[in-house]
Amino acid sequence: MNSRRGILVACALAWLALAGVRPAGAQEADAPPLQHWSFAGPFGLYDTAQLQRGFKVYREVCSTCHSLKLLAFRNLSDPGGPSFSEAQAATIAAGFQVTDGPNDKGEMFQRPGKISDHFPPPFANDQAARAALGGGLPPDLSVIAKARGYERGFPWFVFDAFTEYQEGGPDYIDAILNGYTDPPAGFALPPSAQYNKYFPGHAIAMPKPLSDGQVEYTDGTPTTVDQYGRDVAAFLMWAAEPTLDARKRLGFQVMIFLIVLTALLYFTKRRVWHPVHHPLESRP
Ligand code: HEC
Repeated sequence: MNSRRGILVACALAWLALAGVRPAGAQEADAPPLQHWSFAGPFGLYDTAQLQRGFKVYREVCSTCHSLKLLAFRNLSDPGGPSFSEAQAATIAAGFQVTDGPNDKGEMFQRPGKISDHFPPPFANDQAARAALGGGLPPDLSVIAKARGYERGFPWFVFDAFTEYQEGGPDYIDAILNGYTDPPAGFALPPSAQYNKYFPGHAIAMPKPLSDGQVEYTDGTPTTVDQYGRDVAAFLMWAAEPTLDARKRLGFQVMIFLIVLTALLYFTKRRVWHPVHHPLESRP
């Protein structure tokens, strides 16, 4: 009995000791700061103006390296999104060159984009992207806001269940875009990488993409990296979850319906069980 307990204690100690050991070289990334998003919480919806600004940042900066292949130009005029008019979406499409074909001679050719086209990739293939960018491969950004996030740990994940925190993706994207700093002394940075506080491992192959004043805003919004980061992160959240507005609206309607139904069922139950709880009253 005693020896069995001894083995158990030894196992527990070994587990505790191992849990504290991280693989050599692994660097814990800082937790991204929490931002205020218009689409947070049970009633939060996208801010149309912010999505339009975020699209401008993607178009003028990110689209030189990152594809957005799950998104079609017509989506830009869908309800619940950046709400461009169809004519505006068509103009945006015409600004991109799309590969089409083959033509009568069997050759592929380039033509201006149509509203039904998907966003064309900036590079023909992954190898071309790596060759142009010194080995780094920019991921497609269509669903990156859903594909990235971070562990908030106890006790936050308990609170998150109540506050419906689902903005880990945009928080992370915004943090990455704002997270370029000088490496701490002694950090071995590979030659083709930059130091980023929030990127796991800290050595990111993406050169700092944004600087203050780089993208012009016409609505008086500050043209700072901080603002660009939040706007493009919101736009990418919409790209990854275009039906968020409709989903929240439907969820709210369902909750109202369930509350009314609960009340009706409660009164029905009282009515049905009345003779059982009050047998004397219901005698003839
Ligand atoms: C010069 C090319 C270039 C530009 C411009 C660029 N990126 Fe990147 N990006 C990259 C590369 C390369 C990677 C891959 C980094 C890696 O894996 O180390 C990357 C990675 C990323 C990632 C993924 C990080 C992760 O967790 O894996 C995100 C998100 C991202 N970029 C967002 C953006 C946004 C938003 C913009 C526009 C503001 C942008 N990028 C502009 C080249 C670029």
